Amino acid sequence: MEKRQELYAGKAKSVFATDDPSRVILQFRDDTSAFDGERMESLARKGMVNNCFNAFIMEKLAAAGVPTHFEKRLSATESLVKSLKMIPVECVVRNIAAGGLVKRLGVTEGQELTPPTFELFLKNDALHDPMINESLAETFGWATPEQLAEMKALTFRVNEVLKGLFADGDLLLVDYKLEFGLFEGQIVLGDEFSPDGCRLWDAKTREKLDKDRFRQGLGGVIEAYEEVGRRIGVEFV
Ligand code: CDP
Repeated sequence: MEKRQELYAGKAKSVFATDDPSRVILQFRDDTSAFDGERMESLARKGMVNNCFNAFIMEKLAAAGVPTHFEKRLSATESLVKSLKMIPVECVVRNIAAGGLVKRLGVTEGQELTPPTFELFLKNDALHDPMINESLAETFGWATPEQLAEMKALTFRVNEVLKGLFADGDLLLVDYKLEFGLFEGQIVLGDEFSPDGCRLWDAKTREKLDKDRFRQGLGGVIEAYEEVGRRIGVEFV
């Protein structure tokens, strides 16, 4: 597998072409952003930690029948993935109220959500990822109703798998965001799953062990990601 030119640089990852047009390399960088890129900082080891974390989770999801773009980890900070045509819609499931939901609806942080909620957001930094719905996605051609139904089913399937996995590490999966794309006509989980895109609390103390530590300036960001990894069996190498 030959690494070729950089195709795209996101806020925390870069994408490189390979000699196989159906595969790309994701490079996880130490860059950390919050508030739509308004705040940027480099956090030592983050690229390696998120690459290992993501590989571990993607393999668990694949084993549970969720199609993912993940192929294999290539180095400490790089992974080989299928090249997807990304759907510009973010899928968010919440098990416990936090973050944007608390602000938007004035509900209490920490309130259990039964059943868990499902929300759609348009992936657009300039517009601050506005909330959308199935009707808008269909009308503007971001995703078809069939694709949205599949994305929703897969996002809830991920909840089943990961709630249990984190519970075994004494962690609460509060909420998370997934992105999907198309590979040979099939909906496939893309992007990454790491503490950058979900909320994880210690089950007993409710201590935040995710990117909220960065957003809220609590410090110990990467140490928290590593602690979560240790509890669920991720090897950081
Ligand atoms: O992050 P914020 O509080 O603004 O938004 P949210 O709607 O409460 O986010 C729900 C979950 O999705 C959190 O775990 C976020 O980390 C994640 N998320 C993300 O990874 N990327 C986004 N653009 C928006 C949310």
